Amino acid sequence: LKLAVLVSGGGSNLQAIIDACNTPDYPAEIVLVFSNQLDAGGLERGRKAGIRSEAISHKGYPGGREAYDTAVSALIEESGADLVVLAGYLRLVSESFVTRWKDKLINIHPSLLPSFKGLHVHQAALDAGVKFAGCTVHYVVPEVDSGPIIAQAVVPVLPGDDAGKLAQRILKQEHRIYPQVIRWIAEGRVSVDDKGIVTVADAK
Ligand code: GRF
Repeated sequence: LKLAVLVSGGGSNLQAIIDACNTPDYPAEIVLVFSNQLDAGGLERGRKAGIRSEAISHKGYPGGREAYDTAVSALIEESGADLVVLAGYLRLVSESFVTRWKDKLINIHPSLLPSFKGLHVHQAALDAGVKFAGCTVHYVVPEVDSGPIIAQAVVPVLPGDDAGKLAQRILKQEHRIYPQVIRWIAEGRVSVDDKGIVTVADAK
């Protein structure tokens, strides 16, 4: 399975996917790293791994979000990717982008969806007093942080946690489940029913 990984920041999830791709028999490879931030740390990780890594700044892009996303789609198409992986891509994608990559577009979010959508979710979880937090990998639909849930991982909220500590604990799980989900998809084991419920078939 050929992957395009979209990042805006440091790219630790990207790194986890790069590392997975470098293990024997992993059924996917990254053909493109893309960022909307010219100085994203993720681009450096991609280049170091010898992966085509490109950025187009969204700031002042002529034609706005639609035109920008059309350019991004063209780049992904040209790369030959068949799955688009959002990994800390901090930019809303347009509805036409979601339609173009329907069923081929996944995201990771650092909460147990449908709780705590949006930004600053670790603080929001602490403020709500939840005793467990976690992360979710899901297919992307036009509505933000929604869409069929493929996998989740749970971590405890511990006494003395702050947003940073909780984020680190969750990030560790992100790095585990994102490569795992990509493997399942590459192996053709993931299906979604008409109610948006995902089933992962047993490995053959
Ligand atoms: C992760 O917590 C991810 O879930 C969220 O943004 C963060 C990105 O971290 N969407 P990194 O760039 O992969 O290190």
